[in-house]
Parts: sequence; structure tokens; C-alpha cells
Amino acid sequence: MDFGKIINEIKKLKSEKNAICLVHNYQRPEIYQVADIIGDSLELAKAAAKTDADTIVFCGVDFMAESAKILNPEKKVLIPKLSAKCPMAAMATASALREKKKQFPEATIVSYVNTSAEVKAESDICCTSANAIKVVNSLPAKQILFVPDEHLASWVEKNSDKEIIKWPGFCNVHAHISPDALKDAKRLHPDAKVIAHPECKIAVLDLADHVCSTGGMIDYAKDNPAKEFIIATEEGMVNRLRMEVPEKEFYPIGGTCTGMKAITLEDILSSLKTGQYEVTLDEDVVNKAKRALDRMMEL
Ligand code: 13P
Ligand code: SF4
Repeated sequence: MDFGKIINEIKKLKSEKNAICLVHNYQRPEIYQVADIIGDSLELAKAAAKTDADTIVFCGVDFMAESAKILNPEKKVLIPKLSAKCPMAAMATASALREKKKQFPEATIVSYVNTSAEVKAESDICCTSANAIKVVNSLPAKQILFVPDEHLASWVEKNSDKEIIKWPGFCNVHAHISPDALKDAKRLHPDAKVIAHPECKIAVLDLADHVCSTGGMIDYAKDNPAKEFIIATEEGMVNRLRMEVPEKEFYPIGGTCTGMKAITLEDILSSLKTGQYEVTLDEDVVNKAKRALDRMMEL
């Protein structure tokens, strides 16, 4: 079946089933065409929290679909492919976090949304790349245990006077972007502004003109007078930027996240037809994780 036919079938099934598709910026570009909302983790979590749809088809990775379920326990949340996972989220487990908490009993636990529901349930508050600095700086505690991204933790540390204890996790896509690759790109495109995601290493962030979430990249590219931008994040982000800001040039320097590219249009169609794969979570975990997510949403 060609893309056009699948897209029409998906749209028909969505309206029959009162379903919406929430789509992360890194998804395959053809998936944008069936999206009700395309966005970063925070924008999608907000959309999940306020939808009146019966079913949410989450086109992103595991932790995002889980967050949608935590915010909407009574709704059906589907993830069209089980291999759509974030390897960084798997770098922190609830039992390891419980052990770490014993070492730092005074610390407030801030978990990046790129964590499992069980880790969120052990946390005091969540954050995304869009609000990590704001969340940490809003807390009364002096000591913060930041889970699981050590690079985002370093970025927060640079923008806060808190003591930040870093979990040794990282995103392999962002951690692979080297300062030398960025310097080469700058030599090739001397007029380009550099926009970097805070999951990059601090040595890369120090070379950037702007550091922000994937959603923030669109606003910056629209508002900045520059005509060219080097994009230090997952390569798929340039598809979204080219769609939203077609009059400007975008040069990607990041690799591909295989988890983010796992879902296809065929998978979404099949998910709407069969109801696979439904996100199910333990009720106690949902209640505890919801407290941490709600605290972030209140901010
Ligand atoms: P954003 O919330 O900035 O979209 O980041 C999510 C993510 O997984 C980045 O790798
Ligand atoms: Fe996870 Fe990195 Fe993929 Fe984002 S790009 S989903 S942090 S592995």
C-alpha cells in the first residue's frame, strides 16, 4: 500500500475510534501527516494531559507513551511498536535509584522524563529538556540527584547554584556528536547559527549559539534573523525544521535514534486496527509517578 492510502485509512480509523496520534519531532517525516500534535516531550505530555480522545496512539518511544498513560490512567494508550525504546531510559532502574537514594538522603530526586514509570515513581519531580533548569532552580533543596542523563545534568549544573549529583547515563546519539564535528560544520557553514540539544556533551554546548529542547529549536529558527542553522541533535529534527521554516537551511550533525525510527505508518494502521500494543502499568506505580509528573506540569 502506498503512503497516501495508509494515511487516509489511519485518518478514517482515528475519527471512528475517537483516537489521536501524538508524534515526536524525531519520527519519520511521513508520520507527521497523521499527527494531531507534533512536538517535544513537554508539548506531547501537555497534549496527552488535556485530550478528550478515548485512545492516544503514541508515536515516539516507550517512556513518552508511559508518561501519557500516567497522566491519563483511564485512557487507552497505544505504542505501535514494542522496539520503540529509549536506551538512555533503560540506564536507570528503580532498584538502583533506591540504593543511590540511601547514599544521598538529603537530595531531591529530579528525573528526566526519559525514565521508566518505576523510576518516576521513586522521584520527587520530573523535568524535560525544555524545563530542566527551571525545575531544578525552583526546588528548595541544595542537593539534587539528577537521573539519568549526565550531560543534561552538567548543563543544569552550569545554570544553577545547586549541587548536582549526576547519574552515569547518556544518550548515545547526542553523546556521539563531537566538538570537532561541530567545528568542521562551522567551517563549512560560517554564517550558520548552532542550535544544540542539552543531551549533547558540555564541550559541544559551549560552542552553540542556543541550547534548547527540540520544540525550542523551531521557535529559535523562526525568530532568529540567521538564514542557516547547524542542528546538533538527532538527524530527524531537520525534517520538522524544514517543514516549519521552509525558507531557511538546516544542516544536521547528529546520528539516527533507532528507537525513534522504529514506528512506521503500517504499524500505526495496524495499532489502530488491533489495539496493539497497549501500555499497561501497575496502579501503585502510576499513582506515585503521577505525583512527580504533576509537580512538573504545575510549574
Ligand atoms: P525533547 O523533549 O527535546 O524532544 O527531547 C526528547 C529526546 O528524547 C531527545 O533525545
Ligand atoms: Fe533516547 Fe537519545 Fe533516542 Fe532521545 S535520541 S529517544 S534520548 S536514545
